[in-house]
Amino acid sequence: MREQALFIADVGVERFNNDHQRLLFYVIEFERLAKRFVERAPFEDEWDQVDSLFPRLDKYTHEHFEAEEALMRQHGYPHLEAHIGLHQQLIRHLRQLEGDVAARRSEAIIHLESFLLDWLQTHINQDDRQYRGCFVWAETREITEKALFNEMISVQHLHRAIELGKPGLVLLDLRTESEQAEGIITGSELFPCDHNLIDRQDTEPFRRSFATRFDPERFDPDALYVLICRSGPRAAIALESFQEHDLKACELIGGIQEWIRQGYGLVEAG
Ligand SMILES: [Fe+2]
Ligand SMILES: [Fe+2]
Repeated sequence: MREQALFIADVGVERFNNDHQRLLFYVIEFERLAKRFVERAPFEDEWDQVDSLFPRLDKYTHEHFEAEEALMRQHGYPHLEAHIGLHQQLIRHLRQLEGDVAARRSEAIIHLESFLLDWLQTHINQDDRQYRGCFVWAETREITEKALFNEMISVQHLHRAIELGKPGLVLLDLRTESEQAEGIITGSELFPCDHNLIDRQDTEPFRRSFATRFDPERFDPDALYVLICRSGPRAAIALESFQEHDLKACELIGGIQEWIRQGYGLVEAG
């Protein structure tokens, strides 16, 4: 019987992370039952509890495996066949335990608990963990391609890209130093421009300030720059300069204001 809290690896796909948490629920339920059966044989109503848990575990297993395999197939995961083989092994083992439960073998509950525990620690934390890179790469590529095509990125997509390690993205904060002092999006590079865009009709002061600081040689031609200001207009002006020099960039829709409005946090600049 385990004594420590269980660790479940992040596999890079929210739906699967949630599924894996559900498996933990079954581990805990069967562990609760198994603890009693070390001492004595199950009562009939305890078998009823096992009987009601089993079909749910079975349904969960099939749905989860099918979803994982479909996504692996979609993204051309190179170890798909081997992973399907592992899923089939788990299903066969589950079938066998189901038969033991149906035959009212009390040790089946103890085996079931250790089987699920091993599934969690071996299959999820090692085998499922391996597909993370493939899916993360595919999801990041989808976000960045969309941002580049639309010349803008939503705060939700930026937040997700940061969670995924934002490969290829550079966050560039164009606000004034005093605005940046109030907090920045984590990992942002600071590119403070002197002028806020107080009057949206008069964009020249900001345009001049940005142009003075803008040196195309300083930027990486392979990176995608996410241009961040307070609410958007300054990023739109800056975007023109990036595009004039064939540098890849997009605006953060709604800027820092929208980022905060969606409940995302800022970190201290510096
Ligand atoms: Fe899984
Ligand atoms: Fe799996």
